Amino acid sequence: MAMNYDVAIIGAGAAGMMAALRAGQKGRRVILLDHAKAPGEKIRISGGGRCNFTNIHASAKNFLSENRHFCKSALARFTPSDFIAMVDRHKIAWHEKTLGQLFCDNSAKDIIRMLLDEMHAGKVDMRLGCEISDVARNIDGFILRTSEGAIAASALVIASGGKSIPKMGATGFAYRIAEQFGLAVTETRPALVPLTLEPNLLGDVAPLSGVSVDAIVSHGKTSFREAMLFTHRGLSGPAILQISSYWREGDEIHLSLEPELAILDLLKSARKDNGKQAVQTVLAQYLPKRLAQYLTERLEMTRPLADQSDRAFLSLEASIRRWAIKPAGTEGYRTAEVTLGGVDTRQLDSKTMMANSVPGLFFIGECVDVTGWLGGYNFQWAWASGHACGESL
Ligand code: FDA
Repeated sequence: MAMNYDVAIIGAGAAGMMAALRAGQKGRRVILLDHAKAPGEKIRISGGGRCNFTNIHASAKNFLSENRHFCKSALARFTPSDFIAMVDRHKIAWHEKTLGQLFCDNSAKDIIRMLLDEMHAGKVDMRLGCEISDVARNIDGFILRTSEGAIAASALVIASGGKSIPKMGATGFAYRIAEQFGLAVTETRPALVPLTLEPNLLGDVAPLSGVSVDAIVSHGKTSFREAMLFTHRGLSGPAILQISSYWREGDEIHLSLEPELAILDLLKSARKDNGKQAVQTVLAQYLPKRLAQYLTERLEMTRPLADQSDRAFLSLEASIRRWAIKPAGTEGYRTAEVTLGGVDTRQLDSKTMMANSVPGLFFIGECVDVTGWLGGYNFQWAWASGHACGESL
């Protein structure tokens, strides 16, 4: 005999828990299944353990999707203020770090505890360490074959996330279920991920490993201004993670380091004041020392300022302001914060997240082709899509 529920949700992450608590509090009998031993593992490790749980500026423009308008409805119906109200109700202290990014003062575990308390209030039956071996549809809804036994539910919500960080239990489960029910999945690829460099270029920038600098990083017409970091594998830091979602193999990205700096004016006036100084010494007042050394050596500007022409200064400025780099690849799902692409939103109802062709089947969170920028946007999408779904159940 199968256990009977109104709703079965697969995936006890951010989106699954939000949908579960909403549906449970509306009086639905909800079972939430996860093969992991603990719920919300990605919440726990997010934001350096403090969970960047939302971004007060979240709007459709902060998301990538083949269907740019899809996320608007859910985002409008459950906003950052709605999530903050829940956080405040649970007396969780938080602060804005930068660029509208909100973090817990204490620990990401506070957010998990809040979601568990809310699920408890909705009498959600959560089963962890539960393997799902088969999903089938019948006249009444869905039948799941699981390590907990057979489960029958009128509605099935897939909230099993994307492929990033397989070590934490990420699987392509959602995409397989989508395909099983005849739904298209857009191309998936690692996003918000460090970029790698081919060995020659990596060798060339090796002296910069560990150097962090304020930069505008661009790909075509898209650009982000945040910190970037040279690493022993290539490029990382927030600005690089952001651009990685737009970059494709074979493309160049452009770096403009320390964008506020009037390099040409600074060099010219330093030459006038004290021509005996080394170019590197002047640059090192404004740029990290190793970067100043690297740039001047690369352009062979080792003679003092007085011996440098305006043209030499212009080339130096160009290499700081318009540095074109062709990454070799990305670090892949091993370190990617999210998966770009997913279940094609053209087949989902934007108000409920239900598949148009399969009544009762819903997809929410990261497994859907809606991917946020770095900075709390991905959790906001998980909350908003989970809420939209839970509300409709
Ligand atoms: P999520 O991946 O959270 O949950 C899916 C659940 O499904 C998991 O519990 C998994 O075990 C389960 N599951 C998977 N396959 C299954 C199967 N076959 N059977 C049963 N269960 C299965 N975002 C942000 O906004 N702010 C931040 O600070 C961060 N920080 C951050 C740090 C790091 C290191 C990473 C990797 C990611 C972030 N993110 C982030 C992104 C954010 O974590 C991500 O977008 C959300 O967790 C997505 O929520 P979901 O609920 O959709 O999936």
